[in-house]
Amino acid sequence: MIETERLLLRRLRAEDVDALVALHGDKRVNRFVSTYSHQQALERLASDKQQWTERGHGLFAVELKSSGEFIGRVGLNYWEILGEVELGWILKAEAWGHGYATEAAGACLEWGFATLDADHFIAMIGHGNTASVRVAERLGFTPLRKDVLFGHPCTVYSVDQLA
Ligand SMILES: CC(C)(COP(=O)(O)OP(=O)(O)OC[C@H]1O[C@@H](n2cnc3c(N)ncnc32)[C@H](O)[C@@H]1OP(=O)(O)O)[C@@H](O)C(=O)NCCC(=O)NCCS
Repeated sequence: MIETERLLLRRLRAEDVDALVALHGDKRVNRFVSTYSHQQALERLASDKQQWTERGHGLFAVELKSSGEFIGRVGLNYWEILGEVELGWILKAEAWGHGYATEAAGACLEWGFATLDADHFIAMIGHGNTASVRVAERLGFTPLRKDVLFGHPCTVYSVDQLA
């Protein structure tokens, strides 16, 4: 559990499956991230649970402290093929524009640098995802290289210290 001024970050759990499907099912949200069927969301939650067990990190649900509402997820995901840990952020559209993504991802990054043996973290951002680029820049990420993610061109950003 990570607590910030306005947010609680807690590990995702199997009961979050419907919230995860709904989050990724919103057309405003899935412009640059994939949708999940119920089964795919269950599989994602299972692989996340395994990553927590094997590597000590994974995804967090983001909840508003004031109401307990689930507003999205942030977290760290190890890419075996890259040998790098990605920090990701996805919020419900109703929660955009309040600084919650930067607050949640920033806390997660601080936790990652303090807890894990990683010299940097990456963020993979699809071309045109300007809101996400702004989050990355506020956190101190800078462009590292170009790549292709699930067939879509992206820029891989990197951060090696807290902003
Ligand atoms: C990427 C995403 C999380 C960014 O959300 P966001 O609301 O723009 O980002 P933040 O929560 O950090 O909020 C920052 C904005 O809130 C504003 N804001 C309002 N009140 C604020 C406060 N109290 N503190 C900080 N910022 C505040 C800021 O000015 C900023 O606006 P700006 O970027 O237009 O200048 C969101 O667009 C999203 O979920 N997209 C879909 C999923 C996705 O693409 N994820 C990324 C994949 S790489």
